Amino acid sequence: MSIRNKIFTPVLLGILLSYHVQGQSVQTKTEKYRPQIHFTPQAHWMNDPNGMVYYKGKYHLFYQHFPGGNKWGPMHWGHATSADLVHWEHLPIALYPDSLGYIFSGSAVVDEQNTSGFGKDGKVPLVAIFTHHDPKGEKAGRNDFQNQSLAYSLDEGKSWTKYAGNPVLRNPGIVDFRDPKVMWYEAGKKWIMTLATKDRITFYASPNLKEWTKESEFGAQEGGHGGVWECPDLFPLKLEGKTYWVLIVNINPGAPNGGSGGQYFIGDFDGKHFMPVDNKTRWLDYGTDDYAGITWSNTGERKIFMGWMNNWTYANEVPTSSWRGAATLPRELKLEKVNGEVLLKTLPVKELDNIDLKSVSQFNIEVKDRLKLVKGPALKSPFKLELQADQLKNFTLSFENKLGDKLIIGYNEKTNNYFIDRSKSGDISFNQEFKKLHTAPRIGNGKKMNLIVYVDVASVEFFADGGLTVMTDVFFPQKPMDQVYFKPGASNAGYILKKLKYTPLKSTL
Ligand code: FRU
Repeated sequence: MSIRNKIFTPVLLGILLSYHVQGQSVQTKTEKYRPQIHFTPQAHWMNDPNGMVYYKGKYHLFYQHFPGGNKWGPMHWGHATSADLVHWEHLPIALYPDSLGYIFSGSAVVDEQNTSGFGKDGKVPLVAIFTHHDPKGEKAGRNDFQNQSLAYSLDEGKSWTKYAGNPVLRNPGIVDFRDPKVMWYEAGKKWIMTLATKDRITFYASPNLKEWTKESEFGAQEGGHGGVWECPDLFPLKLEGKTYWVLIVNINPGAPNGGSGGQYFIGDFDGKHFMPVDNKTRWLDYGTDDYAGITWSNTGERKIFMGWMNNWTYANEVPTSSWRGAATLPRELKLEKVNGEVLLKTLPVKELDNIDLKSVSQFNIEVKDRLKLVKGPALKSPFKLELQADQLKNFTLSFENKLGDKLIIGYNEKTNNYFIDRSKSGDISFNQEFKKLHTAPRIGNGKKMNLIVYVDVASVEFFADGGLTVMTDVFFPQKPMDQVYFKPGASNAGYILKKLKYTPLKSTL
């Protein structure tokens, strides 16, 4: 969706299902659809995660936020921090709109060497690089209403000062000119900004974060072009001692199952140009609800990713009450070679194991027909299911409640596809597209199937084959799902599940 089409709602106070402590609202844990293990704003709208930076034991998460309502509106940067990526502390809004416009997406870096000169008395500056979106310029039909600006913090991210010389990178006349992701390029001793510029990426370089020079463009002929390119990320990752460069490019619309999604390229970067290994379009997540995902900066060789668990196709309509929007689980990105091809794989971060409650495992379960998995104590979301099978045969895994809502994950042997069917998962009435079936290629090979499924109150995250195929989907059941059924395809009754592990999860709220 273009920014123009996003719906602006005037400030609505609404009825908040939250109470106030020292001026900060505290969310209740029990609102219908309130995720229990995912980051959500206490109240009101959120979209993209922004400015993710790790500093002095804290993961900072900023996010596109409209504190005046539950639909997209004048953007601020909301702020939260976490010591473990799982439990979040809500902090005051970090950046407010100003005379240069709304605060759109961007990134943050630790300017260790004080290249920017923002540091003072030995205090290391954290620097945020974001897009200023001027709604007046947009309304007037100008083509230069998005520009890149800076803000810095000298108190480890608690408070932020906007740079008086903003904007630092002026728009040359490109309507979509936004979402700067900045990294330090050690080999060239310079900052590199990866910027989404309509249908391509433009790389800029700077010695001090304030003056930027264009280096090159990438992508006019590569990748998906069903929509506008947004929220990119560029970083190195090692595999078998060799460094590869990964370029993430979010796109909306144009994702494989419709609407918003994230594609990626593997290649090389020489400080000026990105050179992909080939022209193929690859996707980070085949579900419809993992958008604008990028990685934390300052985490060394570890690359931690988080997306917005939503899709612009229906983001403004999903039936939540006092807030709208959530982040995906934090995930770690690694590389793996499959048939000689270097691919990204995505798995939930290991810190999530800290919310595991007592698990139940079963081995060598013969499933003849539809079988209720997890007997005994009532199953209750949030939970995690891990399954292992050594046969590639049709199956469905159905998450259900007594009111008849079902969310089905499955595998189709003929097409070698995984799928998610949320057409009967509860409230699907708010958007025509929502009931569509989502499919994903099985990318891993081999006969063994390893599946990890995280189920929260209103979302499912499915990691297959070590994270080579990922699907993230939200859903809105009348009541949380509390039953799980496994069913082999008609032609292969007698399915053996090598292992099934059910782990209830502790709410992080
Ligand atoms: C992606 C996006 C960004 C933009 C922001 C505005 O979801 O459209 O390109 O900066 O959202 O909220």
